[in-house]
Amino acid sequence: MRQRDKRDTTGGLRWHWRAFLQRRRWAATSAAIADWLATTRPASTQLLLIGGSAGWMMCSRWLQRFSEIVLVDIDPWAPNLFRFNHGRALHASGTRLQCVETDGLQELEVLLARYPQASLFFDNVLGQHLYRVRDIEQAEAELDQVAARLAGRDWGSVHDLFSGPVDALRVPVHPVLGFDAQRDAQGLLVDGLRGTTMHKRLLAQVGGVNEWMDHVTSGVFPVGVRSRLIAWPFLPNYAHWLQAGWVAASVPVAHQRDHERHFEATS
Ligand SMILES: C[S@@+](CC[C@H](N)C(=O)[O-])C[C@H]1O[C@@H](n2cnc3c(N)ncnc32)[C@H](O)[C@@H]1O
Repeated sequence: MRQRDKRDTTGGLRWHWRAFLQRRRWAATSAAIADWLATTRPASTQLLLIGGSAGWMMCSRWLQRFSEIVLVDIDPWAPNLFRFNHGRALHASGTRLQCVETDGLQELEVLLARYPQASLFFDNVLGQHLYRVRDIEQAEAELDQVAARLAGRDWGSVHDLFSGPVDALRVPVHPVLGFDAQRDAQGLLVDGLRGTTMHKRLLAQVGGVNEWMDHVTSGVFPVGVRSRLIAWPFLPNYAHWLQAGWVAASVPVAHQRDHERHFEATS
C-alpha cells in the first residue's frame, strides 16, 4: 500500500506559481466549480473560507454574496494574492475581508466559537490533509470527524477525491467531466456505479493509467449528502477528480468508511 504521495500541492509559492501557469488548463474546472457554487445556499452572510489560498480557482461572483469573508490559510502569501485575485470584486460588493493565518482544522473549534454564525467552505484543502499529517490512518480518521465537528453548522467543501497519472492518448473523444454523486449506506454512488466499476468509469474519462491515489476524503460528507464530481486536468500527465458538496446545518452525521485507498486504472 502506498503511504504517501510525494506530490505536495498543499500551498506556498510552488502552488501559486503552478496555479498561475496552469490557469488556462484549469479554466473549465474553475467554471464547473463556479457553476456548482451557484447552486449552493449558504445560510449566513459571513463565510469562513478555509484553505482559500489566493482563490485561483474560486469564483468572485460567489464571494460577492457574502458581507464578510474570513480567509483562513496557513500560507502567509495567501492574503495579498487573494486580494490580487478578488479584491476589486469584493470592494464592488462591499464585502469585508479578514485574513487569519492559522491551521483551519487544528483550530476549527476556536474558529467556530469566534464566528458562531458563519457558514464554512473548505476550498480544496481537505484532500491535502494526508500530505500535512503524513499518516494515512490519522488523516482518514480526522477527515471522517469533520462533519461531526461541524454538527449544527452550515458548510461545504470541494476536495480531491482521487488523483493519478493520465495518458492523453487514452482520453475518449467525448469525455464526461462531471457527475452527480451521492453517499448512501454502501458508499459513494456515481452514475449508478460504485466501487471498482465506479473508479473505472471516472478514470476512463480522463485517460487514467496505472495506480491512482485515494485522498481518503470519501467519508467527509455525511450519508445522504449529494455531491458533484468534477474532473481537474491538473497537469498534462496527471489528473484529479474533485468532489464538491454542501451540508445543511440539519443533516445528521453517521460514521462509516467505505472505500479502498488506492486502485489500478486498468485492473
Ligand atoms: C490546493 S490549495 C487551495 C487552492 C485554493 N482553493 C485556490 O483556489 O487557489 C490548498 C490551500 O490550503 C492551505 N492549507 C492546507 N492545509 C491547511 C490547514 N490545515 N488549514 C488552513 N489552510 C490549509 C494551503 O496553504 C493552500 O493554500
